[in-house]
Amino acid sequence: MKRYLAIAAIVIAGGMIGVAQAEDTSAVRTGETAAALAPGKDVFAHWCAPCHAAEPRLAGTMALQVKYEGAIPAALEDRTDLTPEVVAYFVRNGVAWMPPFRKTEISDADLAALGAYLSAPLEERGAHAPRLADEMMARKGVQQ
Ligand code: HEC
Repeated sequence: MKRYLAIAAIVIAGGMIGVAQAEDTSAVRTGETAAALAPGKDVFAHWCAPCHAAEPRLAGTMALQVKYEGAIPAALEDRTDLTPEVVAYFVRNGVAWMPPFRKTEISDADLAALGAYLSAPLEERGAHAPRLADEMMARKGVQQ
């Protein structure tokens, strides 16, 4: 019996560590976005934030939390290791249940802007891009 209790305690503690890490990735950033990065941030908000915003329950953020186990931020906007080339590869090819995006959806110019945003110094990116869901709620005047 004691042994089962000890195992239960470890499992619960492990779960709590997982929660703490997930909360880390949604750290709130503030500040202005550099003007040159604004177009790329708009592309991110429209096409990527629904899965990759800094919110632990989204498909992309959750998958990357599992993949890297918190070694690097799960939210793409908080990462400092992405290059425009890596972003372009995943956007055009997709991965797992992330779809590839066509040029009629994200043009080459939009993709370049997106790559510039996701590889810029964190302090130039400003606050996280708004999530589509939050934007829709705000438009409808719903308080959260
Ligand atoms: C439908 C949800 C969804 C959308 C929309 C989406 N992604 Fe993803 N993305 C994922 C998932 C899920 C993964 C992780 C797959 C895995 O387990 O390796 C991922 C992985 C990635 C990776 C790989 C990161 C790594 O280190 O392995 C990059 C880069 C990426 N996405 C960029 C983007 C960008 C940029 C956009 C917007 C143009 C976008 N994604 C839109 C779901 C999505």
